Amino acid sequence: MNRLPETLSTREEHYQGETPSHNPPKEVGFFSLDSKRRFLNDSSQMRYYAEPDEHPNFDLRDGYPERYIKWDDSVDEKLDHILRWILANRQVLDVDFVTVRGHLTKLLTTPYDKPGGWLLAVTKFKGILYISEVETDAARQDREKCTGWHHEMVYCGHKFEQYMCADTIDGDPDSTGEVNINEGFFTVIQTRLSDHRLLFSGEVDCRDKDPHAPAPPACYVELKTSAEICTPKQRSNFHRFKLPKWWAQSFLSGVPRIVAGFRDNKGVVVSVKTFHLAEIPQLVTAEDKDNSWRPTVCMNFCSEFLSFVKRVVTEDNPNVVYLFCRNPYGDVTYSVHRDSPHSFLPNWYQDKMG
Ligand code: A3P
Ligand code: MG
Repeated sequence: MNRLPETLSTREEHYQGETPSHNPPKEVGFFSLDSKRRFLNDSSQMRYYAEPDEHPNFDLRDGYPERYIKWDDSVDEKLDHILRWILANRQVLDVDFVTVRGHLTKLLTTPYDKPGGWLLAVTKFKGILYISEVETDAARQDREKCTGWHHEMVYCGHKFEQYMCADTIDGDPDSTGEVNINEGFFTVIQTRLSDHRLLFSGEVDCRDKDPHAPAPPACYVELKTSAEICTPKQRSNFHRFKLPKWWAQSFLSGVPRIVAGFRDNKGVVVSVKTFHLAEIPQLVTAEDKDNSWRPTVCMNFCSEFLSFVKRVVTEDNPNVVYLFCRNPYGDVTYSVHRDSPHSFLPNWYQDKMG
């Protein structure tokens, strides 16, 4: 009898082979979350990209904390929003996996993020594998001891979006209002990596407002902020740690353009730079060979992880959770749990799909 492998390697050198096949991500739908984080089956939260000056002087701390509407990060939304989208739009699913983009981003970057631990819960229900993250003890401790500085940085990322986006196609950005981080527009993407058919949601910052812009997701623009790069150390950290995450997130949902605002130590955006997704890996190799990384390794690891999940998760039961664990600097192991607190498919979803 063939025994199942108990672990999956996370070492970069095991994933250098040929690049796996990958279908261009296709938008199959969208949804919005309103100011109270309620699901809306529409595009009401879509925003439009507004080209900034090259040196815009945006003050990202303006309005903090008095015009900041936080998100309650102790509420674990799990897969609830994409499940609501499925019930509203697509009760027959022609895919192997349902998840959210952030979990896949973590998988893609795992071989290059050695200290990054994660826990992913997987449940098989009616032949489909659902993947939902479980917060690790370390992540919970980090969240609970979050400093004022961290909160301010989260605000700054969203304040940049407010400076860069208009609410209507012919409007201008309005930086005088509140920054409410509950609101969002989400694309729903279907794609294939090797023989794994995936369906997932991902938040979209804004879209190109040119009527001749390509169809979604190619017209979407991802916005990011980062500290101004002044030293070789900051530059290598940016290339080694930040760019792989930015690349992976946008690659998954087929977003071709990332516009980054670089802030000084007072939180003022001093320069804005556009990164074209296809050029990011070569740019790192050309500018900083020691910190280069390969998309092939990211894609091979993700694909092998999904194959590992397919081999391991055999029991089709919404009350059974297979927990896949990547400890910092470790490989991936798993354990099986029945009626566990980590069960994540809500009854309202099981009843409607049942
Ligand atoms: P930055 O983009 O400047 O990092 P996203 O870029 O994915 O659209 O996220 C928008 C903003 O949300 C981020 O701005 C950051 O402020 C905040 N954010 C994203 N991921 C986060 C995380 N894991 N923890 C805390 N804040 C996060
Ligand atoms: Mg963003």
